[in-house]
Amino acid sequence: MCRKGKRRIAVLTSGGDAPGMNAAVRAVTRTAIDNGMEVVGVYRGYNGLLHNDDVKILGLRDVSDIINSGGTMLFTARSPEFNTPAGVKKAADYCKKHNIEGVVAIGGDGTFRGARDLTAAGIKCVCIPVTIDNDVSSSDYTIGFDTAMNTAMRMVDNIRDTAQSHDRCSVVEVMGRHAGYLALHTGIACGASSILVPEIEFDIQKDIIDRIIKEKADKKQHFIIIVAEGVGLDRNEQRPYVERLAEIIQNSTGIESRHTILGHVQRGGSPTVRDRVLATSMGNYAANLLNDNIGNRVVVIKDDKITDYDINEALEMKKEFPRNLYDMAHVVSQ
Ligand code: F6P
Repeated sequence: MCRKGKRRIAVLTSGGDAPGMNAAVRAVTRTAIDNGMEVVGVYRGYNGLLHNDDVKILGLRDVSDIINSGGTMLFTARSPEFNTPAGVKKAADYCKKHNIEGVVAIGGDGTFRGARDLTAAGIKCVCIPVTIDNDVSSSDYTIGFDTAMNTAMRMVDNIRDTAQSHDRCSVVEVMGRHAGYLALHTGIACGASSILVPEIEFDIQKDIIDRIIKEKADKKQHFIIIVAEGVGLDRNEQRPYVERLAEIIQNSTGIESRHTILGHVQRGGSPTVRDRVLATSMGNYAANLLNDNIGNRVVVIKDDKITDYDINEALEMKKEFPRNLYDMAHVVSQ
């Protein structure tokens, strides 16, 4: 696989796909080639380093026409086998055998933990934060979050049309795993009456029912409630939380209620300008770090500036949930 003399790095996407992954792969590839390096595209996350040479040398034209597409041309996977000491060693051995000196790993915190382990096994890794959940603690924003927010907002706008026409209450679940960022921002953008997130405790009677009754008395006719999927995740109930909540609202207020789970529609689609620019800038930054022989880093955006942190330090960081935004949302949605 090696063309003599050229330094070689690899790029992979891991974990859940998100819009902007392709833009990042493109920027990594073209920057590295511009730096005189060879780039190996690794398919299906870390699995590609473990099985069947699931890789391909990427040229400039292999990453054409992807800046505008969602998903990932490299495919993605969560790799239980890689998350074992034997798996990490196997992947590191593969890299060493094929002269891959560094890897750009694109994904969320789970991907970063893999990159940390691979770095410890001798392969310099640089990570790029990509997930629609925005739950990477070291970075203010993750690639994919902006597109997912805009998609969710458009979907909830559609739901609002029908809620308005029928004087109904619509309870909508948005993704985010254990994080409420997607729900919070979608809720603000759609003027939701209430937003439920796992980070902030709530009381159904006080924070939803009483508000609806008060607003209905004040001539509000239809209601949107946005619920982060994380609110229902650990409840171990047979029916989706939003389904039960819609039923409770209907029984307690007399307002006809419906529930919707937006699901994977939020993960796909063409990335927004913001995600394309962020992905391109971070991909370029990551490839340049490896060119400078710097590994074990996470590329992040902090206070509108792209910078990088040690992976271990990045994984230790805590991101504060914007309580002020949450409170503001409920003031202006009465
Ligand atoms: O991390 C992205 C995400 O879409 C979460 O919001 C969601 O909880 C999860 O992935 C769903 O994972 P899967 O696509 O494997 O069902």
